[in-house]
Amino acid sequence: MRSLLSNRDITVDEIYEIFDLAAFYLKNGIKSDLAGKVIFSLFFESSTRTETSFSLAASKLGCLVEKVNVETVALKKGEHLVDFFASLNALLPNAFVVRHSQSGILHLLEKYTDCCIVNAGDGTNEHPTQGLIDAFTILLLKEKIEGLNVLVCGDIIRSRVAHSTIPILQRLGATVAISGPLSFMPLIQVEEVVYHSNFSAAAKSADVIIMLRTQTERTGQKVLAGTTAPFRLDENVLKDLGRDVLIMHPGPVHRNCEISNAVLEDSRNAILTQVRNSQFVRAAVLNFLIKS
Ligand code: CP
Repeated sequence: MRSLLSNRDITVDEIYEIFDLAAFYLKNGIKSDLAGKVIFSLFFESSTRTETSFSLAASKLGCLVEKVNVETVALKKGEHLVDFFASLNALLPNAFVVRHSQSGILHLLEKYTDCCIVNAGDGTNEHPTQGLIDAFTILLLKEKIEGLNVLVCGDIIRSRVAHSTIPILQRLGATVAISGPLSFMPLIQVEEVVYHSNFSAAAKSADVIIMLRTQTERTGQKVLAGTTAPFRLDENVLKDLGRDVLIMHPGPVHRNCEISNAVLEDSRNAILTQVRNSQFVRAAVLNFLIKS
């Protein structure tokens, strides 16, 4: 059965198939297309949006959603993670939805399971459904992705959202640039991604601006990117932006750090639209994977 560990696991045609189904669910409501299927939900790192929207999507699809409380399981008695997953697999679920702090761990766990695994965020590696949600939201609000200039600003090097969202937008035809403090940038030059040291100048010509949260849980860092200029999206930057610019953020937001109160109030911000769309995209992903 197909898993979704990275957006590289799916073709452009399949991405549009998922978007078509997500758009159908958005318009008509999520149907009981997966009645009786069993989903195991395991979040080894905290989540609000991803866990809740997956759970809601799976419930509306008619699935039985079993939230495995990772705080109380036999891992605490010394069981190895692969044996833990093999035991859950023996209960014959149809899918696992997993978030874990270790980058790439799901590729190992996939070998111990027979059903599909959906990556709900693995360390700094990837968050493929967030990438799909971001692209779907842009497509809905801009009516295209091809040819758009997208600027992604913040903690690129540690952001699994950036690592999923940037490649999917490029594959769908957008031109993506990055900005942020140099210490938050990839160590090697990423193909076809231009770096802008002057965030406010680059923002002026962007069709879409995606701000990222500093991953403080991975660095213990007290200093947040964007607490002050030059990498903060605030009133000074906002006043020079185009009327149709789309302002996005995967959440959770560090309010008044990378993005200011005024921007969060601005009608061009689509942050809650991203959250709204998440249940429809995740329902479409579950349907696509379990039925394929
Ligand atoms: N965007 C995102 O993954 O948010 P959560 O950590 O709340 O799931």
